[in-house]
Amino acid sequence: MVNPRFPDTVAEWNENALLRHRQIISGNDLSYEKILVPTIFQLVGDASGKTILDVGCGDGDLAARLADNAKKVVGVDPAGKMIEIAHREYGHRKNVEFVNNTIEAYSESKSASLYDVAIANMSLMSAPNLDRVIESIGSILKSEAIFAATITHPFFWNFYKHLKDPEEFDYSQEHIQRTPFVISLYDEPLPSETTVFHRPLGTYTEIFTRHGFRIEQILEPVPNPDVERLYPEPWLFPRFLAFKCTGPKK
Ligand SMILES: C[S@@+](CC[C@H](N)C(=O)[O-])C[C@H]1O[C@@H](n2cnc3c(N)ncnc32)[C@H](O)[C@@H]1O
Repeated sequence: MVNPRFPDTVAEWNENALLRHRQIISGNDLSYEKILVPTIFQLVGDASGKTILDVGCGDGDLAARLADNAKKVVGVDPAGKMIEIAHREYGHRKNVEFVNNTIEAYSESKSASLYDVAIANMSLMSAPNLDRVIESIGSILKSEAIFAATITHPFFWNFYKHLKDPEEFDYSQEHIQRTPFVISLYDEPLPSETTVFHRPLGTYTEIFTRHGFRIEQILEPVPNPDVERLYPEPWLFPRFLAFKCTGPKK
């Protein structure tokens, strides 16, 4: 374990909410703007007429973008400061709703299969209990719905964060990494360090399949040469991993 104390991830994201929202709307987070959001759109495909669940929606920016085409988007996040921003910035839209809760608690309050699509952009590795998160998502998806998710790349995140000491990183063990959150075009980190629950790839595939999800596609998105030139450092390896799954058959 890198950090023996269990971090309060909701407090981290509450503390970071304001600056994180500013980073996102500034367009200076190249990875968000040029890699992650396009990957989620690619994996979701045609959203028209669809009801979409955004798990760990943060400031609501991506939910609002998806809502441009979708029938309805519901964003769920336990960080109240993030949801306050989401309400303030995008809550006026008729087809967007934001809920201040964990996905685990939100799904328990719903009995029906509600969603055609679920997305989780960089939130699965922020959640302490992946097993419960995936089970919860599955419980409120319609039969064989789409689930698209991005995470920090479990093979390479340690190199990217310069965690080379084996004491600090053991690929095969689930463990906590708490590091400064910095984006490429902005020197200052977010006010609070953020937690990544490192899990080997096999843990993701095992949990997905155990809860009835079928992995259709795994992507390792990287920038095209024009986008890579905008980064202060070259991309020597993929920094993110994306999954497209078919949800449980009901
Ligand atoms: C790295 S942020 C990503 C936010 C947003 N998806 C984005 O793309 O900007 C991770 C988010 O996951 C949320 N999160 C952590 N655990 C969660 C859970 N159990 N259910 C739903 N969201 C969770 C955090 O509060 C945080 O806002």
